[in-house]
Amino acid sequence: MTANCTQNRGLLCPAAFPPIVAAACEGRPNIYLMALPKTWMKAMQTVRNRKSKKLNTKHIEIVRDVSTLRAKVREWRQNGETIGLIPTMGALHDGHLALVKAAQRTCDRTVTSIFVNPTQFAPSEDFESYPRDEADDIAKLDSLSADIAFMPGVADMYADGFSTRVAVSGLSEGLCGASRPHFFGGVATVVTKLLLQALPDRAYFGEKDYQQLQVVSRMVRDLDIPSTIVGVPTVRESDGLAMSSRNWYLSPQERTVAPTLHNVLRDVAARVAGGEDCASAIAAGRAVLETAGFGPVDYIAVCHAESLEPLDRVDGPARVLAAAHLGRTRLIDNVPVK
Ligand code: PAJ
Repeated sequence: MTANCTQNRGLLCPAAFPPIVAAACEGRPNIYLMALPKTWMKAMQTVRNRKSKKLNTKHIEIVRDVSTLRAKVREWRQNGETIGLIPTMGALHDGHLALVKAAQRTCDRTVTSIFVNPTQFAPSEDFESYPRDEADDIAKLDSLSADIAFMPGVADMYADGFSTRVAVSGLSEGLCGASRPHFFGGVATVVTKLLLQALPDRAYFGEKDYQQLQVVSRMVRDLDIPSTIVGVPTVRESDGLAMSSRNWYLSPQERTVAPTLHNVLRDVAARVAGGEDCASAIAAGRAVLETAGFGPVDYIAVCHAESLEPLDRVDGPARVLAAAHLGRTRLIDNVPVK
C-alpha cells in the first residue's frame, strides 16, 4: 500500500494510519510510504542533537554508522571470530546485561545495539519520554568488556524514502499485538535491519518479551537469515518483578504492588499444570490483579509455548503471559508451565 507518495519524508508510521495495520495483519504486501509525525521528528532532533558526555571508556568502542560496523565485523570474521548481537533500546539494566553475558559466553565478540526504535511506538505511546542515558549505558557495557556499542541515529536507520516493513502474521496478532497493532511490525523491521547490518552468528533476546522472541525466531526462519536466535531467561528483582526500563515509571506505591503480576502468573501456571481448565485459572488471576489495583488488564493467557495459540487445557509445552496497566505503566511478564 502506498500513501501519498508526494510527501518527501518517506518514513513509516503504521499506528497513525490504521488501514496499513489491517493490511499487515492480513499478510498482504507491506510496502508503503508516508509522513513521519511531527512529534517523532522533534524527539529525533533532540536525540540527534544531544552531545555525548565525555566518556572514559577502557574497552568498548562506540560505532554510530553501518559502514564502520561492517568493517569491524569483517575484520573479526577474517580472524575467525564469532559475533553475538544484543539488540536493545538502552536504559540498560541487569536483564539486558544478562544477554550481553550470555553472548560473551558463546561468542568471541559482541555488538550491543542501542536504538530507541520509533516505528514500534504508536504516536500515543512513550517514544519521547522513553528513558535514555547513553553515558550510563556505555559505562555498563564497558564494565563488562563488551566490544561494540552500536548507536545509530534515527535518520541513519530510516533514511529519507524508507518504505519497507517486515510483517510476521499470525504470531504478531494476538496478546500484545492486539492492543499494540503497530508494535511487532516495527520490531520485525528494525531487528531485520540490525541482523543484516551486524551479520551475527547469534542474536540474543530475553524471554521477558516472550512474544517478541517467538516473532523474531519465526521471522529468521522464514527469511533464511543466517543467525541463530537465542532466548535468555528473565532477570527479576528480588521480589519477583521482571526487570524493565519501564519500571522507572512506577511510583513508590505502585512499585510495591507490581510484583503481584509475577505472583499471579505463577499461580495460574500452577493451577493449569495441576489440571484446572485455563479459563477458570485466568479468571481467578484477573480478579487478583484488579483487586490489587491493576487496570485495565490487557490480557492473561495460557498459550502453546511456540505457536502462542491460546489453550483450553495444558497437555504440552505452555506459557502463561500477561500485560496489565498499573497507573501509567504497562507491565508485561510471562512464566513457563512446568
Ligand atoms: P528492550 O526493551 O531494550 O530489550 C532489549 C532486550 O532485552 C530484549 O530482548 C528483551 O527481552 C531483553 N530484556 C529486557 N528486560 C529483560 C529482563 N528482565 N530479563 C531478560 N531479558 C530482558 O525489546 C526491545 O528493547 C526492542 O523491542 C528491540 C528488540 C531492541 C527492538 O527495538
